[in-house]
Amino acid sequence: MAILITGASSGFGAAMAQTFVQAGYLVIGTARRGEKLTDLQVRLGDRFQPIVMDVCDKESVQAALLHIQTLPEKFQTIDCLINNAGLALGLDSADKANFADWETMIHTNIIGLSYLTHQVLPKMVVNKRGYIINIGSIAGNYPYFGGNVYGATKAYVRQFSLNLRADLHGTGVRVSNIEPGLCEGSEFSNVRFKGDDERAAKLYEYANALTAQDIAETALWLYQRPAHMNVNTIEVMPVSQSFAGLQVHKDVPPPPPAPELPVVVETPSVAAAQSEQGFLGKLASLFK
Ligand SMILES: NC(=O)c1ccc[n+]([C@@H]2O[C@H](COP(=O)([O-])OP(=O)(O)OC[C@H]3O[C@@H](n4cnc5c(N)ncnc54)[C@H](OP(=O)(O)O)[C@@H]3O)[C@@H](O)[C@H]2O)c1
Repeated sequence: MAILITGASSGFGAAMAQTFVQAGYLVIGTARRGEKLTDLQVRLGDRFQPIVMDVCDKESVQAALLHIQTLPEKFQTIDCLINNAGLALGLDSADKANFADWETMIHTNIIGLSYLTHQVLPKMVVNKRGYIINIGSIAGNYPYFGGNVYGATKAYVRQFSLNLRADLHGTGVRVSNIEPGLCEGSEFSNVRFKGDDERAAKLYEYANALTAQDIAETALWLYQRPAHMNVNTIEVMPVSQSFAGLQVHKDVPPPPPAPELPVVVETPSVAAAQSEQGFLGKLASLFK
C-alpha cells in the first residue's frame, strides 16, 4: 500500500514525501517538474516512486493512475491520497487581479483536487479503508486583502472535505483537511509573486513562520492515528500569527460650513429711518 502525494516537487509535498519514507511507508510523488521528483528519488531511494502529472489535465491524471498499475505491486493500492498540489497567484485586490490567475487557481486547487479524488475514492470504498488528506489553508477561513479567489478555493477544499466525510459514512475511509497558516521553506510565495523572490523573502523575515517540515509531521501524525479516529480539520499557525480586528473605512469628513457673514444693511429700514427721523426731530426741537 502506498501514499500518493501531489505537488511533491517542492515545499510541503517534498517534505511529506521524505517524512513518510523515513517513517517506513511507500510514497508515490507527483508534480509537473519531473527533474525535481527524480532528485527526490535519488535522495529517498526505491521507497519513493516519481510520476510526472499535471492535476489540471485529466489525461495526465489518467496516465499517472495507469502508470501506478505498472509499478511494483506494493505501490499499486493507494491507502492515502494527499491532495497537496496547489497555488496562489497574485495579491491584488479583486478589481485589479488578473483573471487568468483566478482560472489557474480554480483549475488547480478545486478542479484538479476534485478530479483526482473522484478517481481514487472508489477503490478506497471497495477496500473499506483509505485516507484523503487535503491541504487547505487558513485563507479558506479568514478573509484578507488580496486573498479573493485563493481563499475561496481553500474554502471549497474545507467544505468538500467535510462533505466527503458525510458521503463516506460507514465506509471506513477517513478525510482530513490541514489548514496551515504562514509557512516558509516552500515555493508558495515565489510562485504567488511570480518570481519576485525578494518580495517573497521579505514576507517571512523575522516572522518565525511554520516550516514545511511542521506540515509534513502533522500529515504523518494524522495518518498514524488509529483507524477509528478521524480528525476533520486541523488548523495550524505559527505562534507569531494571530487575528487582526475587522477594519472600518471612514469617509474624509466634509469641510466645515463657511461662517455666516454679518448682513450689511446698506439702506436703513423704514422703521430705522422713522426712528432716526424721530430722534433727529426730537433733537432739532430742543434747539428751537
Ligand atoms: N506555504 C504556505 O504558506 C501555505 C499555507 C497554506 C496552504 N498552503 C498550501 O499548501 C500546498 C503546498 O504549497 P507549498 O507551500 O508547498 O508551495 P510550493 O512549494 O509552491 O508547492 C506547490 C506544489 O504544487 C505543485 N503544483 C502546482 N500546480 C500543479 C499542477 N497543475 N499539477 C501538478 N502539480 C502542481 C508544484 O509542482 P510543479 O510546479 O512541479 O508542478 C509544487 O510541487 C498548496 O496547496 C498551498 O495552497 C501553503
